[in-house]
Amino acid sequence: MRNARWKAASRAAIALTGAGALVAGMALFLTAPAAAGTTLGASAAEKGRYFGTAVAAYKLSDSAYTTILNREFNSVTPENEMKIDATEPQQGRFSYSAADQIVSHARSRGMSVRGHTLAWHSQQPPWMESMSGSALRQAMLNHVTQVATHFRGQVVAWDVVNEAFADGSSGGRRDSNLQRTGNDWIEAAFRAADAADPNAKLCYNDYNTDNWTHAKTQGVYNMVRDFKARGVPIDCVGFQSHFNNESPYVSNYRTTLSSFAALGVDVQITELDIQGASAATYRSVVEDCLAVARCNGITVWGIRDSDSWRASQTPLLFNSNGSKKPAYDAVLAALNNGTTPTDPPTDPPTDPPTDPPTTPPPGPGGCTATVSVNQWTGGFVATVKVTAGSSAINGWTVTIGLPSGATVTNAWNANRSGSSGTTNWTNVAYNGQVGAGQSTEYGFQANGTAGSLSPTCSAS
Ligand code: G3I
Repeated sequence: MRNARWKAASRAAIALTGAGALVAGMALFLTAPAAAGTTLGASAAEKGRYFGTAVAAYKLSDSAYTTILNREFNSVTPENEMKIDATEPQQGRFSYSAADQIVSHARSRGMSVRGHTLAWHSQQPPWMESMSGSALRQAMLNHVTQVATHFRGQVVAWDVVNEAFADGSSGGRRDSNLQRTGNDWIEAAFRAADAADPNAKLCYNDYNTDNWTHAKTQGVYNMVRDFKARGVPIDCVGFQSHFNNESPYVSNYRTTLSSFAALGVDVQITELDIQGASAATYRSVVEDCLAVARCNGITVWGIRDSDSWRASQTPLLFNSNGSKKPAYDAVLAALNNGTTPTDPPTDPPTDPPTDPPTTPPPGPGGCTATVSVNQWTGGFVATVKVTAGSSAINGWTVTIGLPSGATVTNAWNANRSGSSGTTNWTNVAYNGQVGAGQSTEYGFQANGTAGSLSPTCSAS
């Protein structure tokens, strides 16, 4: 069970400055490294968030690097120095000097630290790679216990388990030596971390879990829901958010963040980088986080493009010479323009605009609806596309008959009546007007089996 002191802190908020002042209504991690509103960290703190970066210990002697780090960021994640191969290179012999260097640099400047990572199939030292079964399970749990204990009180959030789910359409676990010790290895790691550091937030962290309709996202979602239902001590979910041409940012990202948050966990964007560093996409990511009350903060995976694990994609906020890129300006502006979030944030706002645009007359063209389904064992996500006919429409109603046993659990971008059998879906305020031949989308998640869905659409 999570420590009562931690629970109180998560509700109130602690500024991790030397003064350690309590600041009601703000979240963990907050510090103000410079004048509010002029740096990423200060602007994020004003919104009750942190803005962090991955840090490599060997770069702390590079003054151009530390100048930006110290000025802009109020959270750090050691990029490699807390991984298993770094902290336990030989079994039972622990090595913390590089990680300690980063932690000391950060905390002496009022920055908070995210721990990355306690249990992972990758970057295992050779001795662990060759282990299996109960010996490996015991070694993994001992590693979690020792490392979390060493950093107790210094790390505000741990990526307890990293990247345990498979890519592709299975929605299941990734095969690994850890997975082969038994499906309960993840919850065992969380319980060990909880015992070692009851005050740290304990996160599950993964990549390609940004798109709400992807099976991997749903697989992690179902695990977190199960953990919460059974009292496994999980506090947060990390979304790595490495966006690139193969795995781009998608507009349902906010739905992903808010859906996880609705399970009762915090969400954190933990390794953000965007191929080409589109300013608009960076802005969208920040706005999505600010729209979700339980999105604690954002960490970019490196400072300058030359610091990136994908340097050739120039995915970060600073050029290799340390100058700010347009994406930096977009992020800062989004942080400064962001609004204070409200709970629950599961669905986008539905209030009508105060000054609605001139509405075109209803046309004779009607509308059509098509549906695509992502089915897994026991549930599915349906994405429904509403397309206006030869005339613009001012509103729409879609009717979908669900097969026996299928029950809607949540939905986005539409109002719903009925959760089983015949369900009716109408537009919300911001997606009723659809131009001739244009489309809008809404979605829902349901238990059961979708079978073949045949939506009908009528326009107003
Ligand atoms: O430090 C050694 C150096 O001495 C040696 O000469 C050189 C030769 O290859 O390797 C150097 O170590 C490299 C290390 O980065 C430091 O640069 C490792 O080979 C290399 O494997 C390691 O890559 C890291 C990668 O994780 C390993 O999986 C990246 O820096 C790091 O950014 C990346 O981070 C991961 C997150 O942990 C999890 N999510 C994905 C993310 C990107 O892959």
